[in-house]
Parts: sequence; C-alpha cells; structure tokens
Amino acid sequence: MKKTIFSTIAFTFIFSTAVFSIELVTSETEKKIDALIEKMTLEEKIGQMTQRNARSGSEPFEGMIRDGKIGSILNEVNVEAVNRAQKIAVEESRLAIPLIVGRDVIHGFRTIFPIPLGLAATWNPQLVEEGSRIAALEARSVGVNWTFAPMMDIARDPRWGRIAEGYGEDPYLASRMAAAMVRGFQSDDLASPNALAACMKHFVGYGAAIGGRDYNTTYIPELLLRDIYLPPFKASVDAGAATLMTAFNDLNGVPATGNAFILRDILKGEWAFQGFVVSDWASVTQMVPHGYCADHKEAAEKAVVAGVDMEMETPSYADHIAELLDEGALTLEMIDDAVRRILRVKFALGLFDNPYTDTAHYPTLANEKHLAAAKEAAKQSVVLLKNDGHLLPLSKEMSVAVIGPLADAPQEQLGTWAFDGRAEESQTPLTALRDFLSPEKINYVQALPYSRAKETHDFDQAAQAAERSDVVLLFMGEEAILSGEAHCRANLDLPGAQEQLIKVIASAGKPIVLVVMAGRPLTMGNILEHIDALLYAFHPGSMGGPAVVDLLFGIDSPSGKLTVTFPKVVGQIPMYYNHKNTGRPPQASSWVHIDDIPLNAWQTSLGNESHYLDAGFTPQYPFGYGLSYTTFEYKDLQLSSPAIKMGEALTVSAVIRNSGAMRATEIVQLYCRDLAASITRPVRELKGFERITLEPGECRTVEFVLTTEDLAFPGPDMKMVAEPGAFHVWIAPSSEGGLMGEFSIAE
Ligand code: NOJ
Repeated sequence: MKKTIFSTIAFTFIFSTAVFSIELVTSETEKKIDALIEKMTLEEKIGQMTQRNARSGSEPFEGMIRDGKIGSILNEVNVEAVNRAQKIAVEESRLAIPLIVGRDVIHGFRTIFPIPLGLAATWNPQLVEEGSRIAALEARSVGVNWTFAPMMDIARDPRWGRIAEGYGEDPYLASRMAAAMVRGFQSDDLASPNALAACMKHFVGYGAAIGGRDYNTTYIPELLLRDIYLPPFKASVDAGAATLMTAFNDLNGVPATGNAFILRDILKGEWAFQGFVVSDWASVTQMVPHGYCADHKEAAEKAVVAGVDMEMETPSYADHIAELLDEGALTLEMIDDAVRRILRVKFALGLFDNPYTDTAHYPTLANEKHLAAAKEAAKQSVVLLKNDGHLLPLSKEMSVAVIGPLADAPQEQLGTWAFDGRAEESQTPLTALRDFLSPEKINYVQALPYSRAKETHDFDQAAQAAERSDVVLLFMGEEAILSGEAHCRANLDLPGAQEQLIKVIASAGKPIVLVVMAGRPLTMGNILEHIDALLYAFHPGSMGGPAVVDLLFGIDSPSGKLTVTFPKVVGQIPMYYNHKNTGRPPQASSWVHIDDIPLNAWQTSLGNESHYLDAGFTPQYPFGYGLSYTTFEYKDLQLSSPAIKMGEALTVSAVIRNSGAMRATEIVQLYCRDLAASITRPVRELKGFERITLEPGECRTVEFVLTTEDLAFPGPDMKMVAEPGAFHVWIAPSSEGGLMGEFSIAE
C-alpha cells in the first residue's frame, strides 16, 4: 500500500510583489545632478549621451574620455584597463564624471549558467536571481558595472535565433524571470560594489520579427503589445531596473529606436521610468536603412525626440546634436533630461564615490561555489520529454556507448553570449561520465566532429560501439553559433548528418537516450520513433556535463518544464499555447490526416475547422510540459467560492501527490480562461506556478490566490480591465490537461 503523507500547504500569491525596489531618484542626488548639469558644457552633455566600444590603449580614445566626450564604454573586461579608463574620466576630465561600463553578461560571466531559455525551464525565479547575483559579482570584479540583460523579448517563433536569450513565449513567466534577474544583478543596493545595473531589452517587440528572421519588421497591434510584449518590461521597471535598451526592429512602421510612443508615452510617461534608455548597437543610424530617416542627422534627432538617452557605438549624437539644437529641432530640456537620467544611474551605482575596482574585494572567478550553483541551475533546466519503458534513470552497472558531436564540446555547451566563459572550465558530459563510471563501461565515438558535419565515415564505428554497450547515449543538437543574434534557422531539424546517425545507431537495436543541447526548440518528428528517451538540456553552460550525468543516473529526477511550445514541423510556427480559440476550433473527432483522405472526397467531408491536414493542431510538446522519474497525481481541486466580486480574491487549491517511487520536484501550474470578454481572450493563460518537492507517497496542497486584478487584460480603450463573467481555472502539470474548475466574477 502506498503511504500518504500530508505535508505543509504551499501557499502562493500569484505575483509576489517586489521585495525591494531601488529608488533611483532621491532629492540629495537630484541636487548633485542639478549642480553638475549647471557646470556642463554642451559638448560634455553630449559626451554623457555617447557610448563607445572600448579601445584601450588608444590615445585618441583615451583623449575623448579625458575631454568628456564619452560617458560610457562597452566590452572592456580587463580590470586594469577599466581602472585606467575610470582614472582618466575622474582624475583627468574637467568634471570628474565616472564611466558606466557595459558588457553582455547574459547568463553568467565566467561561470556560465544555462542559456536563459534553459533557465526559464527551471520555473525557479529564486535560482535565477541567485545565478544573476553570481554573474554580477564576477562581472563587477573586472570593473564592469552595467549588464545588457535581462533580455525579456517574448518569442513565439523558434526559428528566431535569439529565442535562446529570453524566457520563451509566456508574458507572466517572463515577467517573473526578468524581475528575478533584475533583482539578482542589482541586489537591494545598486551602490554596493557587488551590483550591476540591469538593462531591460529589447524594447519592444523584437521577438515578433516576421518569419523569425532577426532584425525583421514587426507589426504588433497595441492591444497585443500591451497584452503579451510589454508586461515583462513593466514588471522589470517595478523591480527597479536602472536602464533599458531599444530594439532593432521596425515596429508598426516606426523603428523602435525612434518610437516616441513606446519610449516617451509608455515607458517614461505611463510607467514613470526614471532610469535611462540606451540604443542598441548602431540602431540610431540604422534608422536610415530602415527608410525612416534620410541621414544620420535626422536619425539623431528622431532618437533623441523619441527618448533615447544614450547612443551605443555610432557617433550621430556627437556629430549632430549641437547643430540640431541650433536649428531648434531639439531642445536643451531634452538633452538635460537625458543627461540627468544617465547621471542618476551613475550616482545610484556609487561610481562618484568609488569608480575603481579592487580585485581583492571579490571571490575568484568560476570558483567551486559558483560552479555548484551553475550545476544546480543546469540540472533544474533539463526537461525530460520522453522516457519509454522507464529507460531512465540508468543503472551504474550498465555499459554506455557515448556518441555524438556534443558529448565533449566544452565551448558549444556554453551557448550564445558566453564571451567571458572559458571552454577549459566547462565540464562536458564525457568528462562527467568518466568521473562517474569506471573506464571500461564507456565506449566513446564522437562520430560527427560538429553538429552540422555531414561526413559519415565514423558511423560504422559508432554502430559497433552501440552494439558493444547496454545503452546508447547520444549527445546531439546545435553548436552555440547556430542560435543567438542573427543566427536564425528556417529548418529546425537536427542539422548535418545527425538524423542519419541516429538511424544507423538505432539499427544496432540498443536502447537509445538522446540528450539534446540546443539554443531553441528543434523539430524532432523524424527521429522520435528511433529513440527511447529524450532529455532536452538547451545549452546548459559550464556545468552541463555533471548536471546531465546526475539526471541520467537518477541522482536527481529531471524537473524542468518547457516555456515554449515545441512544434512538430516548422510549418506550424508560430505556435503558442495562449492562442485564441477561433470561431472554428479544431476537433480531434473530425480531423483527418492528409494520408487518410479518401480519393475524390467531397470538399466539406473533412470538417471545416482550424487545423493542418498534414500536421494536425497539436504541438510535439506543449508549453509547460516535462516528465519526471516519478509520477504526480493531481486531485481535489477546490475553489473558495463559485463567484467573487470585483476586487475580491479567489483561492484555488489542489492536492498533488507523488505517486511514484522517487523523490522529485513538480512544477504545478495555474491557468485561467475568460470565456467571453469585450476583447477575446486566449484559451489558457498562465497565472501562477509553484515548484514543490515531494517524497514518494507525499501529498501537498498547493494553493493559489487569484485576484480580479490578476484576471485583467488590456481592454478596448487600452486600459487594464477585469470584466464580470464566467471563467475556467486549471491546476495542471502543463498547458494541456489538469484539473478544471469554474467560477465567475459577479457584476
Ligand atoms: C547588439 C545586441 O542586439 C544587444 O543585445 C547587445 O547588448 C549589444 N549588441 C551590445 O553587445
């Protein structure tokens, strides 16, 4: 008989209010800023609005800092060079204004954590916050005081290479993760020498690039913008994020970098954001090729008017602002406001008090503690997608054939934007297996030198290794270069000859575990039938190897869940769980696969519903999905009331029981649907989640508190509104299935 233990109730507020929020504006610093602005020449003001890529040791470059013509540098990670640049700024420039030093610290600095899409799959904001704290400590130790992260672009298209850098397709989850990262980078005291200023990016809609091709045009109606793309930015502003980066894309005909509606009206107006806005790299001057500005001068004008306070890398501000002021196209108030915002962040960072970095203050980079945190993050990020016949976890007694281009690819597993990570510090699955198993149990054949390789000459040797072993471990996916900025793919199958290799190995008849390392969801329809188990590890970072090995051998159970829908084929894209229902929603009962349509079938005989004849209407794996080595039973859904009034809260709870034999973590998800609204609502929307760890037989009541505010959406007048009417609510293991209840909001 299975034992039932009731442990404490997990009680969750839907949106944990920020524990702290950094105050950028204080009367004391505003006075100091007034005094400084008073003394500044126009050239010095424009200098503060100018960011340039570091050219350490270059005399003209250092001269520009000395002359107050540069307010910020990026991409310098040599601490002596940063200190030297700061020294020139504060000891040799007229007004002694320190530099703000930027770097893309996206998922770790030297200790590389999983790519953000993998981090999101942990559904663990606390862990994400701790990881960002470590990244901040490491980056700050070399003089970097500003990170261009978090990236919170909602991505509904896995062809887009930058899906790797964000948290997936859901605005609620992305809001929780982005806010956690902001808190981790900034800590509760931006002035501490351990904090980095965060930079929310890319504002906004960048992930909606048509066709998933980077930098491409976006068209996003304001309702959709407010419903899906803006919430993570709003949550990050509320969490105190100090800066924001504009996006490269043309948004509804106006490039984001020249878009006053999003920057002035929404960000600085509606949300009262007090920090500063930086352009993306050359995104000011790129308004010329966009066809929005005739030349760089007009681009500078449009960007300043729109509210871009600092220009990254290109010199259009330096070259044209003075002239634009003379002509009356810009006002001094605009310039002073931009400078004020930049100085505000520099004061908040404590740079006026201490611009220098003392390395003695910081722990060693990639130390044991940091690597242990990266391992834990990697472990929690891995998603078990298939486990036929309970192949996993494996026994230590088994011999394993280790095959594939990513079994021992220390750089590739770091993923995109790992500039400061070191391949020699990353531990691969092969090295971890060699630590874990006795040598005679491992038969390693790389078979393909890299993921795109097409040569098949080692395939026979790989098949022989499979034959000699009890189980095959395939490590496949994408090299780091295949995702990230500008690295989009139109075909999402495993690249190169990897699919062919799987088929060759399958002919050996041994059970196959496929571990995928990739920057995005891949389409795996061609190979799923040939493998028994599938662990999706994204690019897991420095400690990916040991994390995966712990999961393979059941030291822990996988607990990650997808934060992006995995399509079966590229033609289904865009595909996301929170879609609208349509007037003719698909029906399993009437859908006929293209191969089964009778010859000369009558036009209307297939049902007239919204589906694909060849790909149906379901994804390969839905949002929120992920298996475990145990099983979880969901039961006893309870609602505190069948109806609530506007302004009231509803408590929704369910009992989750570990009905299997292993201690494991489950991510319990709360979804809602507003059945009829003045603006149609999605078939499901994530409204909460909770990670719970249960012993075998243990039960826990998970309770969510849902307010009518949580059910609000942008209404016809663009204002958030919760409307009376009927709702469905689910407590569920993924965006499909779960326990459903009904309630209403009374008039
Ligand atoms: C361009 C990228 O779009 C942005 O995300 C990054 O922060 C900057 N380059 C600086 O490297």
